[in-house]
This record gives sequence, structure tokens and C-alpha cells, in this order.
Amino acid sequence: MQTETWIQDIVSQLTLEEKIGMIHGNGLFRTGGVERLGIPPLVMTDGPIGIRADFEDQLWKPNGMTSDYTSYFPCGSALAATFNPKLAKLNGQVLGEEARGRGKDVLLAPSINIKRTPLCGRNFEYMSEDPYLVEALCVPFIEGIQENDVAACVKHLAANSQETDRMAVDTIVDERTLEELYLKAFYAAITKGRSYCMMGAYNKLNGEFCCSSKQLLNKLVREDWNYDGTIISDWGGVHDTIDAAESALDIEMDVHYEFSSHYLAEPLKKKVEEGILEEALIDKKVSNILRLMKRLHMLGDEQETRKSGIYSNMEHHQAALDIARESVILLKNEDDRLPIKTKGMRKIAIIGENAIRIHSNKGGSSELKALYETSPLLGIKKVLGGNVSVSYAKGYEVADKLDSIYDDEESWQASSTQEVDISSIRMGTKAEEQERLRREAVELAKTVDEVIFIGGLNHAYDLEGVDREDMILPYGQDSVIEAVLEANPNTVVVMIAGSPVEMPWADKAKAIVYQYYAGMEGGTALAEVLFGKVNPSGKLPETFPYHATDCLPVQLGEMGKPGYVTFKEELKVGYRQYDTEQKEVAFCFGHGLSYTKFEYSDMKATVTESDDEVTVELSLMIENTGKVKGQEIVQIYVGSKNPSVFRPLHELKAFQKVTLAPEEKKEVKIKLQKDTFSYYSMEEKQFIIEAGTYTIEAGSSSRDIRECLTIELHR
Ligand code: BGC
Repeated sequence: MQTETWIQDIVSQLTLEEKIGMIHGNGLFRTGGVERLGIPPLVMTDGPIGIRADFEDQLWKPNGMTSDYTSYFPCGSALAATFNPKLAKLNGQVLGEEARGRGKDVLLAPSINIKRTPLCGRNFEYMSEDPYLVEALCVPFIEGIQENDVAACVKHLAANSQETDRMAVDTIVDERTLEELYLKAFYAAITKGRSYCMMGAYNKLNGEFCCSSKQLLNKLVREDWNYDGTIISDWGGVHDTIDAAESALDIEMDVHYEFSSHYLAEPLKKKVEEGILEEALIDKKVSNILRLMKRLHMLGDEQETRKSGIYSNMEHHQAALDIARESVILLKNEDDRLPIKTKGMRKIAIIGENAIRIHSNKGGSSELKALYETSPLLGIKKVLGGNVSVSYAKGYEVADKLDSIYDDEESWQASSTQEVDISSIRMGTKAEEQERLRREAVELAKTVDEVIFIGGLNHAYDLEGVDREDMILPYGQDSVIEAVLEANPNTVVVMIAGSPVEMPWADKAKAIVYQYYAGMEGGTALAEVLFGKVNPSGKLPETFPYHATDCLPVQLGEMGKPGYVTFKEELKVGYRQYDTEQKEVAFCFGHGLSYTKFEYSDMKATVTESDDEVTVELSLMIENTGKVKGQEIVQIYVGSKNPSVFRPLHELKAFQKVTLAPEEKKEVKIKLQKDTFSYYSMEEKQFIIEAGTYTIEAGSSSRDIRECLTIELHR
């Protein structure tokens, strides 16, 4: 029987009560099944960086088993820093295998919201400020997950770029900005990546709650995008029975566990029985869920063929290491300070709390019960071995409440739909203790051959539910870094964080390395880069401004306020703002150094135009002119010379990661098509291309353009 006919047949056999059981949470991470007809519950799990610990079915309490220790993968920003779609595919594959291995059906990932400012608490989960980069990585990521008979659930649609007042804030965004920035990767996720599920965001978009928005879900996603997958609410994102029933949402999930009182539970049943709502609305939702179950081989004899997955195995740990290695970003390397030469080195000091901190167990719904997490200190000791004496000093204290999630306490998530009390998370440190730790670090720095400072942020700052107020390093780290740099000017500074931080000491430090939370092997990868076993190739997937106030939405007061925020900056987000305004930034988009040098030359373009297509075949040469093997990310930016509407100075439209041995020279070929040149016309309500001159730049970052040419499009 054809799937759609089969679905109709099953729906016709289900009672109203059974259907309603399938469309709302019946456990914290599952819906209800219908045993009579062999329909199982749909089991879901967070999240983007690994498979979350198992909770009691109906209580926000970890179930306390030891069988849910899991692999911990680099966060979304770290993956984005690799600029490597093959690694994104691998990441998806291993996550999918882990999810299936743990018996899950839906993986609540990837998180692909645009980093609109440096301050959003969940930026670490997200990939980039640039929708093209997000698209290029999220599509293979989703494909990888779904190869394992597990659904990806791309989240959170849409314009969910702040945590302040996240349950209610109304985000006012114009159509062009939505189409060009905030919806683009979601569209790709479902049309190219074929994500079986999608999660609505908590916030409102232009006046309607995203999880029940007719404009967003019914019109855009179902009608315009033709989506036949399953739409799931964020946990507690539904606010009204009629709205949710009439919207294209399929499943209501919530954090509270009086499941029968969910809006799409008893209240819905009552409305149908009273004749206020039609049962056909429920049939549609159930049909979408049954189609999903079919796709995942969850029903009948097909279960025999369903993949069974595997988790916490060595191959997955290796994958975590491979991704982590390519995610490390070398921001600065004056006088070839790095890699640190170990020959003759006897004593090294590691200073800073992030050298020993474990990050996997915090951050919000992406928290994990990692099987292990290699801290930077462990990574360094592993790489150096026993002949070097490694001393450690904290340098500063983290007094924040960052304890384990595996204790008996109720999870933070039980009350996650209420305002968060930051004071209990960020507590501050006593001044005398801070001074003592600083002095201790400085004294140590004076006595050794090498010093590495490892600081940055942790999940008291990169945290679901709360935004940061500024980009200033917490715990008085700036003064510790200044003092250590004074004591030993050769100190290498490493920042580990999920978002940009101010670095007022950057001019004094010869070498600065940045690492996003990089998973269970993050410490190993970092050490390998610091000591030259791995040549860094990560690039910034977002701009690092000097201060948060350099960022337009922050300047305009349209970030992190409750009530409503208007995206007045429109397209001027990230480098689309900074590069267009030619504003100085600390480190630009796409920046990241290598231990070798690459030369670009001979860029050529062949343009072919027809009525409905434009093809530009680019070719250029890249040469490794240094002494070690390395990987370069060739970035292609395109701009319009004389547009009739505002267009950013240039936009990333393609990239390619190239591996080159010393003195090796390769031709890079890149094909650009019409999407590259089009913009969303408010008049025509579609993407169009204007005739005119376009610049095509090839660069090592958005500001390190090595080759440039112009082409004419006639249309
Ligand atoms: C988050 C989602 C997550 C869900 C389930 C919510 O707090 O916003 O991303 O998937 O919880 O844990």
C-alpha cells in the first residue's frame, strides 16, 4: 500500500483520544503511542553536541544510570570554525548513531539560529553570523544524522537570537531580512537536507508565537516550502489550544509534567467534543507523525530493518578529535611564537581556570553526561610526557554555581520557562582571594621557560536562558593576563569560550589562540596545536568586535530587552555591518592563521547567462609557500557595485578547504550560481538578480582579500 493511503487508513482507525495522545508530550521527551495498532511513542533527545542524559520519564531528575555516559562533540560554533562540510557530515553521522544507539527517534539538533550579536547566551550552540556558512554545514549534518533512521529536528524557527524574555519576546523583522538572513538556512535544512523534523522557537515573530504562527508555519513552511515533515514545539512554546490546533504545529512539548493539561491534550479534546474545533485538524498532525515514523522504519515489520546505532565507542571519540583539531583558531602569531618548541624546554606553567574546567555538563538543554572530557591541562600533559615539569596555577577563581547535573537535584529545566535568576549563576569572587591567586600566577610565570594562559568563558556565561551584558572577561581575568604578560612577555594566551570576548591585552600578547567548547577531545586538540603536532586551520565563523557596543543591534538598543525587539539593523549583521561600515574590529569574519603561508594567484571567471540561470566558473591557484603542510579555507565573497537597493559590501558565497604540502600548488575550482547574486525583492516577493557589475573576491578572511575581479551580468 502507498504510504499516504496507509496513513489515511491508520488515521481512520484511531479514536480521538488516541490521536490526541500522539500529538503532545506524554513523558518529558516522548509522545504517547497506540499499542493496539503497534504505534510506538516518539522518543526525543537533546541535543546538538551529544545525546543527553536520560531523565525519569515524568520527572526532571536524571535517572541515575551509568549507561547514559555519552560521547561529547564540539559545539555548533566549533564545528562552524572548521569550515568543513565533510566534518559536518561526520558529526551528523556519529550523532545519529549515538542517538539510535540510545534508542531515540528524534535528535533535537542542529541549532542553526543566526548569531545576530555577540551577546546571545546560546551563541555557542549556534554556528555562525552568516547564513551561507550555516547552510553549507547544516545540510550535511542533517543528512548524516538521518542516515541512521533517526530524525534531525532543526531548531529554532525563527529569529531566535536572544535569550532575554525568550518565552514571550516579540521579534519584529522585515521580510527581506528574514528571507536573506534568518530563514535561509532553515529553508536549506528542509529542502536540501530534508530534515524530517523542525522545532518552533519560543519567541514571537511579528506578533505571533512561532510555535503556533499561521504566517510562519502554515503559510511559509507548509505552503511555500511544501514541508511534509513534523513540526515540534519548543518545550513550553505553546500558549493557546485553538491557535496551536489551527496552526501547522504537529506536537506540543512542555517542561511541566501534567501531560493531560497540555494545550493539545484534554483542552483540545474538549474543544473538539464541543464542536469548536474540527477533528480533521488533528488528523493532519497525526498523519505527519505517522509519515515520520514510516521514514524512520518504526512501524510493523520494518522495525527489523531499522538501524540499531552504537554509542560511546572509540570511532566516535576519534571523530570528536578530528573535528576538534580543525576547530582551533590561531588568532595571532607574532614572530612565529607558536608552535611552542619543546626542545630544551624543562618547565612550563599553565595558568587559568579553563585549563582544568569541564564544560560538557552545563549550558542548558545541550548539557551532557560525557563519558570523559579531556581538559587542556590533561591534553598538554599527554602531549608533553614526563620530561617536562608542568605546573599549574588557577590565576583567578570561578565562584559560580557550576556544579554537576548528575546529583539528586531537580534539573534547572523544570523551571526553565520562568525568568532565570542570574545572581545564583554568576556569583563573583572575593577581592582578596582574587589578588592572592593573581600573585601566585605571576610568581609562577617568572620561574618557567614557557607560560600558557588558558581562560575565557564557561557556561555561567554561555548559557541557555540568559544573555551576556557585555563581552568583558569575567573573574578579573584581564588583570591576571596583563600581569602574567608583564612577568613573561612570551606568554601564549588561549581563550576558550562560546562567543567573542574583549581582549584589551591583545596588542601585548604575541600569540592568541581561540577555541570554542570543543568536545571530549578538546584539550587534546588544543595541545596538539600549541606544540605543533597539528597545524591550525580553524577560521572565525563570526566577527570579534572590540566591544559589544560596536555591534549595531546592541548600539540601537534592540538586543536583549524584554517585550519586543525590532531588527532595525536589517541586513547589517556581523561582517555585513562591520565590513560595509569599514569599522575596525578585533578579528574579522573568516580569520584564522596557519603555521604556514598560502599564496593566491590567477583568479579567472567564465560567465554563462541564460534566462533563468547564471553560472560563473571560477578558478584560482593556491600555493603553500611555507615549510609545513597546512589547510587553507579559500573564501569567496561577492558584492554588487551599483545596486538599486542596499546590499552589504560583500557576502560569503562559497568556500573550499584545501590541503597543501610545502611548495605544493593547486588549482581551486568553484562554481557560483544564481543564488550567489540574487537579493530578496520586497516588491516582487522573490529573489531576483539585477543587471550590473559584481565584484568577486577570493580571500583568507573577509578582510584579507587576495584576488579580486569584476563581472558584468546583463539579465
Ligand atoms: C530548548 C530546546 C530543547 C528543549 C528540550 C528547550 O529549553 O530551547 O532547544 O531542545 O528545551 O530540552
